[in-house]
Parts: sequence; C-alpha cells; structure tokens
Amino acid sequence: MACEYGVGILGCGNISAAYFKLIPLFKNLKAVACADINPAAAEARAAEFGVRAETVEALLADPEVDVIVNLTIPEAHFAMSKRALEAGKHVYSEKPFVLSVEEGEELRKIADAKGLRVGSAPDTFLGGAHQFARKLIDDGAIGKVMSGTAHVLGAGMEAWHPNPDFFFRPGGGPILDMGPYYVTNLVNLVGPVKRVMAMANMARTERVIGNGPRNGEAVPVSTPTNIHAILEFENGAHIALMGSWDVIANKHTNMELYGVDGALHVPDPNFFGGSVEMAQRGGKGFEAVELWDHPLTSAKFQTQDGRMLANYRAAGLSDMMAAHEEGREHRCSLDRALHVVDVLLSILKSAEEKRSVDIGTKCTQPAPFSMQEAAALMR
Ligand SMILES: NC(=O)c1ccc[n+]([C@@H]2O[C@H](COP(=O)([O-])OP(=O)(O)OC[C@H]3O[C@@H](n4cnc5c(N)ncnc54)[C@H](O)[C@@H]3O)[C@@H](O)[C@H]2O)c1
Repeated sequence: MACEYGVGILGCGNISAAYFKLIPLFKNLKAVACADINPAAAEARAAEFGVRAETVEALLADPEVDVIVNLTIPEAHFAMSKRALEAGKHVYSEKPFVLSVEEGEELRKIADAKGLRVGSAPDTFLGGAHQFARKLIDDGAIGKVMSGTAHVLGAGMEAWHPNPDFFFRPGGGPILDMGPYYVTNLVNLVGPVKRVMAMANMARTERVIGNGPRNGEAVPVSTPTNIHAILEFENGAHIALMGSWDVIANKHTNMELYGVDGALHVPDPNFFGGSVEMAQRGGKGFEAVELWDHPLTSAKFQTQDGRMLANYRAAGLSDMMAAHEEGREHRCSLDRALHVVDVLLSILKSAEEKRSVDIGTKCTQPAPFSMQEAAALMR
C-alpha cells in the first residue's frame, strides 16, 4: 500500500481552490492544512475545504505536513520554498518556481543535503492529450521534428484577476507566466533547448483592473508584454514562440510541430485535454486523431464560468511523492523546471541584449506517463 503524504497549502489565493479540489483525486495525497500571510485567506479556504488554517510558521513546523505546495506569488516562491526545505518538507511550487538559475541551484543544494524533493508546475504535459502527442512523435508518426510554432496570445490578465499586479512585474509577463506551459510541453515533446533569440516590446505602460474590489485601478507595467522568440532545440529543431498580452484577437493555434514526414497540432498546453490532429505526407491535411483512454484526458472539472475541462493539477505532485517512495526521478523535476526557467529568462535576456543566448542548464526529456502509471496514482 502506497504512503499517503500530508499536503500543506501555502498561499490561499485564486489557484488554491483548484488544488484543494484536485488533490483528493490522487491516492497518495491528503490536504491537511493551509496558511497565507493574509490569515483571512487561509481561514476562508480552510472552512471551504475542511482543513486546518495555520500561521505560515506553524504550517512549516506541522508534523502532519510532509510536502508544502507553494502557491504564493512568483516573487515569494524561492524564499518560501527555501524555508520549507529548511524545515524538512518536500516542496512542490507553482510556476515559475524560481526567478534565477542561482536560486534554483540553491534549492537543489538544500534538497539534496536533506534528501528532499523539489518539483514544479506545470504538470499539464502529463495530460492524456499531450502524452498522446508524445507517443505519436516517439512512434515516428511525423518523423523527426524540425520546426514548429507556439502562440500564447491574449489581451492580458487584468480583466479577470482581482490582484493582477504580479503579472506585470519582473517574474510575470506572458513569457514567465504562460511560457512555462509551452516550453515545458516542448521539452516533453521535442527535448531540451540549446539556444534562443528574441525581440520584445510592450503596448502599454499601465493596465487597468477590470474585476473585483480594485476595479478601475491602474497597475504599472515593468516587464515586456509582447515577445517573439526562436528556440533552437538540442535535436536541431527551430521552433517560434510568440507570447503576448497585447493581442485583442488572433486565429493562431497554440502549438504545431512540423516533422520530416508530417505535422502535429497539439492542444493548449495550459490544459490536460483537447484534440490532437495529425497530417502525414501524401494525406488530406490535418485530421483529428482518436485519443486513447488515458485517465488524465476527460473533461470533469467545472471552471468558475461553468465550462468543463480536463484538469488534473496535482498529478505532478502525486508523481513526485510516488517517485520519492520508489526511488526514481519525478517528471516535474527541479532539473526540468530550472531548464525551463533558464530558457524563459534567456528569451528576455536575448531581447534586452539584442543577441542569441546559449542555454547553460541541461535536462532530459521526461519519461512518458503511461495510462497504467497514471491510473495507479488515482483513487
Ligand atoms: N490563478 C490562476 O489561474 C493560476 C493558474 C496556474 C498557476 N498559477 C500560479 O499560481 C501562483 C499563485 O497565483 P494566484 O492566482 O493564486 O495568486 P493570488 O495573488 O490570487 O494568490 C497568492 C496568495 O499567496 C499569498 N502570499 C503571497 N506571499 C506570501 C508569502 N510570502 N507567504 C504566504 N502567503 C503568501 C497571498 O496573500 C495570496 O493569498 C502564481 O505563481 C501563478 O502563476 C495561477
């Protein structure tokens, strides 16, 4: 019988509700307590989901908490993950888990010395749709991937998020905020990145909040909001990534990969499901591929606006704790998350310094996540 690990949620804002709802899907996880620098936020989530609200100090010292899920804002991720490791807890952080390679290396040092795990979102690449795309590529269905495009475009986060300040400060912006989903999935599908080149600008220096108690308040912008990048992968592929919050409307697809013998349409890497389409040389162009019956595919999660989505956030956390027990590498590993952060920061650096930037960190492609392995983690 697998262990059940006590989860302490640190940071009880917007995304914490999804974690509280999804953690119970996984056999080896149990949410036991939560904390926030704003005690009222922790108390509200505790009442909603039947866990204990604690102070931050008490959560980090709680003997029933084995792993801290760090859902604070990007600027606080490193400091709070470091404190959690020093307190002897495993850490799984929302993205971006650090804001420099040095911070990531520091966490690695502490974790290694204490035999603790560090993992990071996004884990959406573990979803059935993305794992199916991975299987098609691994099986040679489109031949070697040599190019592709990825688009994460929108009008910004200020319309819906009641406290969007962090999105427009260093650590936010479309590349650091949404880029992790795209680059993590590209590492899953194509492998690690070798070099990047980019250009960036911003359409506005202020954004106006459109929701919640601060509706109408202006928020300053201090990070680029419109970025074009080309990523050169270790396998030789060149893939164009555009991340922008200055786009009112567009008709681009989220991700397309072009292989020597075919092309693959990959659904939005922000989600676990979606449709995969494939075209093969001599065929009729893109056609939907029937998805396999992977446990992380079906749309069973209701969003605040009533849509049904495939959402299995916490799958990466569950895999991390299972990997700890089994003595194997976890898929949302520090190495991969740090490589992704390095790629994203290097994109911004390339734009700022008007030159290509070699990626210093290395990682491997994660192991595929089979239907059997996914099913074994779920209740
Ligand atoms: N909102 C989403 O839909 C979403 C989706 C995926 C990932 N994320 C990521 O999750 C993280 C949190 O996002 P959010 O939207 O929930 O933000 P949020 O601002 O709604 O919530 C963050 C919470 O963390 C608390 N906090 C900040 N610093 C803290 C500290 N030092 N110690 C304890 N608590 C602290 C804040 O008081 C707040 O309650 C971000 O990294 C974001 O990129 C958010």
